[in-house]
Amino acid sequence: MDITVSKTRIAAEFDRARVATDALLEPLSDAELRRQVSPLQSPLVWDYAHIAYFEELWLARGVGGADPITSGHDDIYDAFQHARDERGELPLLDPAAARAYAVDVRAHTLEVLDRVDLDRGDPLHRDGFVFGMVLQHELQHQETLLQTLQLRDEPYPIPGGSGTNGAVHPDLVELLVGGGAITLGTSAEPWAYDNERQAHELELPGFRIDSAPVTNARYLEFVLAGGYENASVWSEAGWAWRVAENVTLPLGWRRDGDEITRVRFGHVEPLPAHEPVQHVSFFEAEAFARWADKRLPTEQEWEKAALSVGPSRERGSRAAFGPRPAVAAAAQLGGDVWEWTSSHFLPYPGFAAFPYAEYSEVFFGDAFRVLRGGSWATDPLVARPTFRNWDYPQRRQIFAGFRCASDA
Ligand code: AVJ
Ligand code: FE
Repeated sequence: MDITVSKTRIAAEFDRARVATDALLEPLSDAELRRQVSPLQSPLVWDYAHIAYFEELWLARGVGGADPITSGHDDIYDAFQHARDERGELPLLDPAAARAYAVDVRAHTLEVLDRVDLDRGDPLHRDGFVFGMVLQHELQHQETLLQTLQLRDEPYPIPGGSGTNGAVHPDLVELLVGGGAITLGTSAEPWAYDNERQAHELELPGFRIDSAPVTNARYLEFVLAGGYENASVWSEAGWAWRVAENVTLPLGWRRDGDEITRVRFGHVEPLPAHEPVQHVSFFEAEAFARWADKRLPTEQEWEKAALSVGPSRERGSRAAFGPRPAVAAAAQLGGDVWEWTSSHFLPYPGFAAFPYAEYSEVFFGDAFRVLRGGSWATDPLVARPTFRNWDYPQRRQIFAGFRCASDA
């Protein structure tokens, strides 16, 4: 990642990120930016000011030694002080003030970048790590903003969907990955998060894994076969969730007899048959896999498959506001939907929290499942093959689908 060696490149990436953040929110009124759309998400303007706050904390204050720009921000914009569903009630900066704050912080950032020694030996500064961390933070929050925008009922301006035409139905291809030793995680990626470290060797038995994520067409077969009424394919926790929430379809699907549509950023569309299914929970993914006589891959299997297939080609994109249709011929691992794995979010051997425990460490345990690969909404700078995402097994607002695996 040669981007880390040059201040010019880092500054250009910061600029690219901010242009994209601003563009996402540009179509919305102040009232919409201020609104708590869902208890699962912050008001959009909270994310915006939080992006600037995180940047101020680590760069202007942390690296540059500056005093806080405003004292109240340490409470309001620290993600650990108030739950997401309470943030609508906080005395948030209004959109114009949030933008002015972000501009002010960014000027500090560029000034600090200009005078800092990126080759200083300590791990926070080496290879521009702390700049990379702040940059990735903004890029990750762009995906959070997109989740919120997707949850709104009002139409958000997006290009037309792929619909049901065009793509050829992919025949399912299973990749056979041989057993043996493999090195997972990374010690070399300069901007990798603490939870991706260190590189470590592991013995994995051989396994089979689908070459592409499960499509809407295939998931529809599960729906029409009564998958949501068939307790025997659900885990105990999954079935309890399904019943309690009365879930009968992926989030955003609408059913009228056998006719299914889906809502994408407030637009009702025919179900695009060959796109990877999105907005399913871990529980739904797990039930589908059991119904299909398969299972979800572990995160180790996912990473090994990604390594053996090689760096992937095209990907879904923000420009399209959706994943690519599933392709059979080439293996498609990453960049279309986040993929649920069966793994709990746990530390790798020798884990050390860096540079703060609230990024990863406080989430380790069996409450969360790991997702791999990155979605169409994930910036490529974030979506490394070693990147680990995590969420609660019932969450569906993330751009998540899954692929199936089985024993070899
Ligand atoms: C890695 C996506 C789970 O959004 O909670 C953003 C990323 N951490 N701000 C999240 C993150 C701090 C994190 N995920
Ligand atoms: Fe954050």
